[in-house]
Amino acid sequence: MLKIENLSLAIAASNGDKPAVSDVSFELVPGRVLGLVGESGCGKTLTAQSILRLGEHQGIKRSGGRILLDEQDIFTMPEAQLRKVRGGRISMIFQEPMTALNPVFSIGAQLVEVIRLHLDLSRQATEERAAALLADVGLQDGKTLLTQFPDALSGGMRQRVLIAMAMAAHPDYIIADEPTTALDVSVQARIIDLLRKLQRDQQLGMLLVTHDFGLVAELADEVAVMYAGQIVERGSVHEIFEQPAHPYTRALMHCRPEMAEKGKELPAISGQVPAPGDWPTGCRFAARCPLANQACTQPVSENAWANDKHVARCVHVDAITGTKTTETKNSEACT
Ligand SMILES: Nc1ncnc2c1ncn2[C@@H]1O[C@H](COP(=O)(O)OP(=O)(O)O)[C@@H](O)[C@H]1O
Ligand SMILES: [Mg+2]
Repeated sequence: MLKIENLSLAIAASNGDKPAVSDVSFELVPGRVLGLVGESGCGKTLTAQSILRLGEHQGIKRSGGRILLDEQDIFTMPEAQLRKVRGGRISMIFQEPMTALNPVFSIGAQLVEVIRLHLDLSRQATEERAAALLADVGLQDGKTLLTQFPDALSGGMRQRVLIAMAMAAHPDYIIADEPTTALDVSVQARIIDLLRKLQRDQQLGMLLVTHDFGLVAELADEVAVMYAGQIVERGSVHEIFEQPAHPYTRALMHCRPEMAEKGKELPAISGQVPAPGDWPTGCRFAARCPLANQACTQPVSENAWANDKHVARCVHVDAITGTKTTETKNSEACT
């Protein structure tokens, strides 16, 4: 299991470290998909990248918590072992297929490099594996493709190549950060179908970062909703869609009756998301929340309410759930 426990991250700045992600916890389980949703800038990418310690060279630091891969903390893992984990046990698919491939190396060279790094195969077996991987991701004529350079490929093809690279070493977990956002609408659905197929066939544990609630409804088993650097609610897709417990989740859902429609962005909610470092001591959603009162000025921890797998970071959680008045109030928060 891959367990993120009370993770906090900070961004190094000349005037001191700025907190960016606070007390985030979730688990990835083989064979299951966790959808991580939230408005732009809330910390999804920082969280996703930190699982492989990818933000460190940009000054992103862990300020608290742990990331446990089979009980071992990724933050204290020796460098050599971390290199094996990256792409070996845990792979990442980025939002930007245009920049994630190196333009000066052929597709074949880049794919072979990943296979060599992780698998101990003969030269011929490596080449066969490269061609087979391309076929697995739906790319025809692998032999020709291996000799081509990234700029000869469309965005959708590049994303397929990156997915092939991510699958090269039979990972257990895959982190997909908005994997279709940069692609043409016409190819998005096909890439999602491919990811879903690979995830199911190979029983991968997947973190799907997205701002598309419809995609989460379709693909994920569990959801974590992020707001201003915190997870404000998490639980099974069924429970969160049937009975959202946090006013932010409810606002997102009530703003969008057609929320289960694929390809739609999260709705606008009136008011501003506080920037990293400008967070209030109490609930970070309070300034936009129709239920905010004095109780919300104190720090809020994650409260389990229906069961310990469905938690919400809200002091009003018991009062909210199942009440009609709350729904009306929340829909007033929509713009
Ligand atoms: N390398 C960085 N240096 C400074 N600020 C950053 C860096 N990466 C992200 N941030 C800031 O951290 C916040 C969270 O960013 P990010 O995780 O990319 O959000 P999301 O993926 O949810 O849109 C944003 O305010 C963003 O501007
Ligand atoms: Mg992002």
